[in-house]
Amino acid sequence: MLFPVILAGGHGSRLWPLSRQQHPKQFLPLIEESLSMLQATLKRLDGLSSAPPLLLCNEQHRFLAAEQVRQMKGLQAQIMLEPVGRNTAPAIALAALFSSEQTAGEQAEDAVLLALPADHAIEDVAAFHAAVNAALPLARAGKLVTFGIPPTRAETGYGYLHRGTAIGQSGSFEVAQFVEKPDRARAEAYLAAGDYDWNSGIFLFQAKRYLQELARFQPEVLAACQAALAGSERDLDFIRLDAEAFATCPDISVDYGVMEHTTSAAMVPLEAGWSDVGSWSALAGVLGRDEQGNTLCGDVLTEGVDNCLIHAESRLVAALGVENLVIVETKDAVLVAHKGKEQDVKRLVEQLEAQG
Ligand code: GDD
Ligand code: MG
Repeated sequence: MLFPVILAGGHGSRLWPLSRQQHPKQFLPLIEESLSMLQATLKRLDGLSSAPPLLLCNEQHRFLAAEQVRQMKGLQAQIMLEPVGRNTAPAIALAALFSSEQTAGEQAEDAVLLALPADHAIEDVAAFHAAVNAALPLARAGKLVTFGIPPTRAETGYGYLHRGTAIGQSGSFEVAQFVEKPDRARAEAYLAAGDYDWNSGIFLFQAKRYLQELARFQPEVLAACQAALAGSERDLDFIRLDAEAFATCPDISVDYGVMEHTTSAAMVPLEAGWSDVGSWSALAGVLGRDEQGNTLCGDVLTEGVDNCLIHAESRLVAALGVENLVIVETKDAVLVAHKGKEQDVKRLVEQLEAQG
């Protein structure tokens, strides 16, 4: 049984000021006009699994999540609410524990989780399905499967998968080493070496294998998640975790917490037009650029403007003789940034939050 798990608890702060704490990027229709990133993720599962997906998000976004699921007519999804964000290792642990609770006996033994970030763009859905289906036998054999993307730059915000032994003829490999968010020098070395892939952030593994690895590498995460689920309250709409128990859970991602340590990781290539839409430039890449290299959204007027992303939400934005800028206008905040500096938007938002 394949259980889709949607991770929708992130902040998306690098897409500020469009993405806000109250309304993070996974709930915004950034790419398709009629569907939010979360809804596009749910739609992408159509035809892949018959089990209703489990969506995990922060409690403060429960109405957004429930409403967006409701809009996807005919779709059943369960929504688990995290009282505080503890990152992806606990979120996936909760999903793994929940899936074994949902299925009895032998079926529980076989439950395979497909963990999907709620904020990625994938152009070719058929290729995505084919990659998941190619990965299923590996997951059933006990592998923790990652989906690899050929790297095109020395990105420091991603995980890197060092290819080990080839698995069959399919382009899949054992992962010899998983390195999460290397520094620039190492990212450059990995890019030059040619036998590294980016980790897409999508994972496929048996729930029981994940829980075994978690028990080895992050026993405190496992214990806190077990307690949080045991004390959870459930109604028709939500699964509400025990806040006190979950508060004791360490904050750690699946990448740092499990994938960097396990010796059972495998990589299946994903060639499906993937983007994590993790920055304004990445969004421009997905939306497309005109002949001047510009991506213009909304009421925008330009002259002599090159290689800019300009987004106007509530007013006319006019730009003259500028290049390599990101300009994002919203009702209450405007961002003007150099394209090379956009990873720092996250830091800026952290400063803003600290100032209250
Ligand atoms: N439910 C839940 N709870 N979801 C969360 C939480 C949480 O506490 N924290 C993050 N998420 C969700 C985010 O919304 C996103 O969809 C996904 O989990 C991944 O989290 P990010 O915070 O976006 O991770 P990242 O981008 O820094 O790194 C991951 O993705 C890269 C590719 O985009 C890693 O897996 C990298 O190795 C990978 O290269
Ligand atoms: Mg991300």
